[in-house]
Amino acid sequence: MADEEKLNRERAGTYRTTDSRFTIEQSATGWLLLDSEQTNELGLPLARGPFATLDEARGAIGAARSGPRPISDLGERRAAKQASAKDATARASGGAPERAKGARAGKARKAPPRPTGREMVIRELRTVDGDALRALWRSVGFNSIGDDDRSLARLARRNPGLVLVATEGGRIVGSALGAWDGRRGWIYHVATAESHRRRGVASRLVGQVEAGLSDLGCPKVNVMVRDENEGASEFWAARGYAIGPARQLSRELGWA
Ligand SMILES: CC(C)(COP(=O)(O)OP(=O)(O)OC[C@H]1O[C@@H](n2cnc3c(N)ncnc32)[C@H](O)[C@@H]1OP(=O)(O)O)[C@@H](O)C(=O)NCCC(=O)NCCS
Repeated sequence: MADEEKLNRERAGTYRTTDSRFTIEQSATGWLLLDSEQTNELGLPLARGPFATLDEARGAIGAARSGPRPISDLGERRAAKQASAKDATARASGGAPERAKGARAGKARKAPPRPTGREMVIRELRTVDGDALRALWRSVGFNSIGDDDRSLARLARRNPGLVLVATEGGRIVGSALGAWDGRRGWIYHVATAESHRRRGVASRLVGQVEAGLSDLGCPKVNVMVRDENEGASEFWAARGYAIGPARQLSRELGWA
């Protein structure tokens, strides 16, 4: 077995290859192989599996390494989109297309930086995240109906790609729970660990939720902000959110 395919145990149920590219995580449905160099259409690490055993997931690493890059790679699709937009502008103004200019100058494509395993990763909530998330939420004073595992799993199931966490070195450092009710989008429990504030964590999370809502055709997104939430009003104002005319009224229906 190649050295880079050896697995190091990070903690119970989580293993990482020596080169940090692949993480194998145990989930409720089996073992998932997460690839930090390939992303799915939402920009989340591409997941292969679930596999029945850790060995099966390990066995899939070789094929993942040598296989073709998926066409869903978000970075490349964005770059291609930007290049073709520039080409269109250049053509309209009678200039040379950007791609041709780059090719003439003999520009080599820069290799992506080697992952260290400490990069921040935005990914969808998983069933195993509940305890770590509730610890983060307790640290910022969140404690709401809907924070239990069953409710979170239901929220994630109904809102694929919108219920997100930020992790660094496998540790959860941020959250944003997006939801689309068919009329408005909602964002709940936006929180960043105190140690990671003012580094753009919440902005990346919320930006990704907003992009997902927008893709669904959602015309407007709401958040509820408590006055005592530290930095919250400034954060939302910086993202262009404004206080609306309506007051929020609520009633509990007796279901947890
Ligand atoms: C509000 C909160 C989520 C912001 O998280 P964050 O990851 O630090 O936010 P970002 O780094 O993405 O901040 C983006 C911008 O928002 C504004 N901002 C964020 N926190 C701010 C603060 N405490 N004071 C003033 N402006 C702030 C700034 O303009 C910032 O850009 P800058 O750092 O370049 O100046 C975080 O402080 C938090 O978890 N607070 C407690 C929980 C909470 O109140 N959540 C909101 C629920 S509605």
